[in-house]
Amino acid sequence: MKAIILSGGKGTRLRPLTYTGAKQLVPVANKPILWYGIEAIVATGITDIGIIISPETGEEVKAKTGDGDRFGARITYILQEHPAGLAHAVKIARPFLGDSSFVMYLGDNLIQNELGGFLDHFKEQQMDALIMLRPVVNPSAFGVAQVDEQGRVVHLVEKPKVPPSNLALVGIYFFAQTIHASIDRIQPSPRGELEITDAIQNLIDQQKHVEARQIEGWWLDTGKKDDLLEANQIILDTCLQSDLCGELDAQTQISGRVQIGHGSKLINCTVRGPVTIGKDCHLENSFIGPYSSIADQVTLIDADLEHSVILQGARIVGIHQRIVDSVIGQRAHLKTAPQRPKALRFMIGDDCQIELA
Ligand code: DAU
Repeated sequence: MKAIILSGGKGTRLRPLTYTGAKQLVPVANKPILWYGIEAIVATGITDIGIIISPETGEEVKAKTGDGDRFGARITYILQEHPAGLAHAVKIARPFLGDSSFVMYLGDNLIQNELGGFLDHFKEQQMDALIMLRPVVNPSAFGVAQVDEQGRVVHLVEKPKVPPSNLALVGIYFFAQTIHASIDRIQPSPRGELEITDAIQNLIDQQKHVEARQIEGWWLDTGKKDDLLEANQIILDTCLQSDLCGELDAQTQISGRVQIGHGSKLINCTVRGPVTIGKDCHLENSFIGPYSSIADQVTLIDADLEHSVILQGARIVGIHQRIVDSVIGQRAHLKTAPQRPKALRFMIGDDCQIELA
């Protein structure tokens, strides 16, 4: 059994963060989204993992993630020249997959459930495909499944305008090698992509053994800002353990679960967990409220924030209104004058969103 993780694509919905980096490397609770997928796969005992990368962000994914040693896995990187669809990614991974059954994991998905139980069921029943479903309020944004009274999948459709149900396809799939023949039979969709949803429909049309399981726990597709903040909140809520490294002065107050990395310095700060603060940060006269993740080398001076994600090297100085529900990109600078500012001066990248609420 092998696994592939899809970490190519364009990441248009997380712009501007994804102009300079892969969306799968955007951190959730200070860990790249992609790594959660790798860890979930390794936890099932699968260690032979192929990661699909794009020419634009592939080198960054490789440099950050490495050969798999840190996860106890062996990672093979597979270059997809164009984001021609999820089934296209399987097609180009075929030399890596050989005749193996495999798990396919979309690199921007996070789920609470462990994968082991699903994998055992898939193997025991010798299925051609096992898919996971979850009820959602906006099915038109996903692949959607129609199931009969026995829970069998009768029809699958990608991003339908009129959804046949509220059951979305979660971005984690289990496949036998029979999926390859189905991929060879399908044509690109109206959006020009070879859809894995169409390939699974083709398996169903060929009377192959396709089953679906509804997942109970949370599922996050971290494609947009609010999804990212929600993922950050859930992971901090469920996984964060207190660990205070770094240097904290006597005026600094910490409450709740808080993690602080080596080399970080906190002077006269209040931190209310759950909060994670990376390495080599400088935080002074600041309030950091619940559900905040602060990456390495961040500077916060006279700042006040909560429920926000601050990426590596960002610098926020003298912002006394509370920063909430925000994602601040790598090396971004925000500052105000010590006296009441008389003007606002910006240098803002494409697709940024600024809200003076
Ligand atoms: O998140 C679940 C949804 O994922 C499913 O409900 C849909 O049926 C499925 O098509 C997929 O839809 P998305 O529109 O969310 O897929 P997206 O284009 O965001 O790509 C998902 C991941 O796969 C992402 O990490 C980028 C990567 N990717 C995408 C394409 C199109 C590739 O590596 N290569 C590609 O060609």
